[in-house]
Amino acid sequence: MFKRFDLKTLDDLKCALSRSALHLPFSDNLGCLAEPVKIGERTLANRFTVQPMEGVDADPVSGAPSELTSRRYRRYAAGGSALIWAEAVAVSDDGVSGLRQLRVNRSNLDVYKRVVELIRSSAAEECGHEVTSVIQLTHSGRYSRPGGVVKPLKAQHNPELDLALGMQDAETVSDDYLLRLQDNFVEAALLLAEAGFDGIDLKAVHGYLVAELLGARRRAGRFGGSYENRTRFFRECVQRIKEALPQGHFVTARCTVLEPSAYPYGWGVVENVVNDRSPDENVNEVPIDLAEPLRLLQECVALGMPLINISIGYPRFQAYMNRPHDNALREMPLPPEDPLRSVVRFQNIVREVQKTLPEVPVVTAALAWLRHLMPQVAAGLVEEGWCTLIGQGRNAFAYPDSVRDILEKGAMDTRKCCTTCSLCSQIMKDGVGCTGCVVRDKDIYAAELLKGLKRGSQKENCAF
Ligand SMILES: Cc1cc2nc3c(=O)[nH]c(=O)nc-3n(C[C@H](O)[C@H](O)[C@H](O)COP(=O)(O)O)c2cc1C
Ligand code: SF4
Repeated sequence: MFKRFDLKTLDDLKCALSRSALHLPFSDNLGCLAEPVKIGERTLANRFTVQPMEGVDADPVSGAPSELTSRRYRRYAAGGSALIWAEAVAVSDDGVSGLRQLRVNRSNLDVYKRVVELIRSSAAEECGHEVTSVIQLTHSGRYSRPGGVVKPLKAQHNPELDLALGMQDAETVSDDYLLRLQDNFVEAALLLAEAGFDGIDLKAVHGYLVAELLGARRRAGRFGGSYENRTRFFRECVQRIKEALPQGHFVTARCTVLEPSAYPYGWGVVENVVNDRSPDENVNEVPIDLAEPLRLLQECVALGMPLINISIGYPRFQAYMNRPHDNALREMPLPPEDPLRSVVRFQNIVREVQKTLPEVPVVTAALAWLRHLMPQVAAGLVEEGWCTLIGQGRNAFAYPDSVRDILEKGAMDTRKCCTTCSLCSQIMKDGVGCTGCVVRDKDIYAAELLKGLKRGSQKENCAF
């Protein structure tokens, strides 16, 4: 049953878990979070990662990072995380999620170079460590809005999603389109490596194009049908980016292990169980089978990925699965379950992935709902081997120096924690403002939220 966060102490959290027959590990040894971690040839200074968080604040004409983008990255890097995982950058003009999603090209490359320098200098000056940076590349697929106009591009027909999103007539991309798109991914990867990012992430989560291909059983041709075909785009892209990148750079992925459309359309779902639920019904109804996702992640490691970041679910329909929250978006239902259950589900899935891939660090997420009780859970997750790196998404917006507080003072300040109010996601969905924390950074972002409120409810499709 849905229940807002009302926990004060770790004992309260332990009681809440035991009342619901749930389990999370705990440890008071926060020192383990300060331990260095090897990823490939590099060593991270600690176990914290800023998760990719779209700020929707790119220059709408050039697609370059703006002043607000730079401000975010300076705050992230100064906040103490050893790994800064930069947000989704669209690799093609028709695959952008909106006017203010980042895009990269030769003409705006210098701005990216300055952002990388800022990340490095802020981490060095404020934290005294060398930071590692990864940047995410994406195609928005069904959620594409080139020039701010809705123009979905699908991997396949999916009756459930098509109906829910009004996309029955939307275009399904051709194999030729996908081959050209691979070139776009490689080109963008090379530019961003030249800008100084250490790692390139091929985004394959949250219902976007590369993730949708993974479940494209009903698609004909090279990129649909069998497991080999459905994963071909992703694998070939990883291989091509890896071969193209200069020495010293690496390729990784934020890869989905669950796209919860009922078989035969989803990914990470039990095959041959056809389910007639609607997509916004509780996803607990979709029987999960991680065999294919785990196989793909093993292949990723064999392809040389030095770390793996995962996520689950369609934020559009089951936001509670990947960002457990207390308040839903306007006109969206409250989570169908206790957010604590969602936190535990995510950690259990990460545990399964880390157990399967003991040789590479796996990054977890979805911990913001725990507020100030997160550090002892994070330390428990690390000590018991559920994951290697602790990713923070919404707290990167709300409380960017939380890592320094955890590592230097041994605690998070309750007054600075993310409240999981979903207003940063609301700004994204409204499609007119730049996003950040409306609650903890309100001098900037309260006005951005108002822009959307004034415009009224967004009818256009958005992944959020
Ligand atoms: C406003 C917003 C923007 C996001 N942008 C991205 C993104 O660009 N790429 C991505 O992989 N995940 C994105 N996410 C998901 C987060 O990285 C993270 O997985 C999620 O917020 C749960 O982690 P948390 O509990 O630490 O917030 C976004 C989430 C929010 C709320
Ligand atoms: S607006 Fe701030 S407090 Fe609300 S969910 Fe986003 S980061 Fe958290």
